[in-house]
Amino acid sequence: MAIDDVAPVPPDTLGLHSTTGPQWAPAMLAHVDRLLVEQAHLEKKAAAGALAFLFRLPAEAESQRQLSALAREELVHFERTLRLLQARGVPFGPVPPCDYAERLKAGAVRTMPARLVDELVVAALIEARSCERMQLLALALRGSEPVVAAFYADLVEAEARHEGIYLELASAQAPAAAVAARWHVLAAHEAAVLRGLPCSPHLHGGAVEAASTREPG
Ligand SMILES: [Fe+2]
Ligand SMILES: [Fe+2]
Repeated sequence: MAIDDVAPVPPDTLGLHSTTGPQWAPAMLAHVDRLLVEQAHLEKKAAAGALAFLFRLPAEAESQRQLSALAREELVHFERTLRLLQARGVPFGPVPPCDYAERLKAGAVRTMPARLVDELVVAALIEARSCERMQLLALALRGSEPVVAAFYADLVEAEARHEGIYLELASAQAPAAAVAARWHVLAAHEAAVLRGLPCSPHLHGGAVEAASTREPG
């Protein structure tokens, strides 16, 4: 699918509390190979995260089916990323760690069952931020790296959908108003985490925010 055929996901619809500024994607263009290696790791972690929820959530058929399909889709993304690396002659190997997910998860409450809801909301936030950043990469790369641009553009739709699935799963564990309240708190935390990270070659690295950044309130 060509990047021009992909309907962009408006950042406002993702519900994030900050918008990545226009300087971020151009700063990543010199690090495409490293970002793709990291992408493979992120897809593998996303599959593992979905599998972990599959065992922690109540055994209810529809949610189990959703999580199983989600885990499989993340593994398909993992394999697709490995194929792209191979085609570019880039070896798959370790990448420097990024503190984003760990710092984000530190914002979750510690006690069950509220923790499970928070962890689902955090998973939704990671999907939302991935969606935002991959869309920016797809647009920034379409002139110089059309194959990679199309790859990221294909993933954008899936990330937005995954955000919705995790929010739906959270809403099955707690009243909608409670989930919305936790989203508000954790989305503000997510924006603060990104503000505290350096701008480095990571999908979830820090970046100067766009002027339209929402103020948590
Ligand atoms: Fe994915
Ligand atoms: Fe995903």
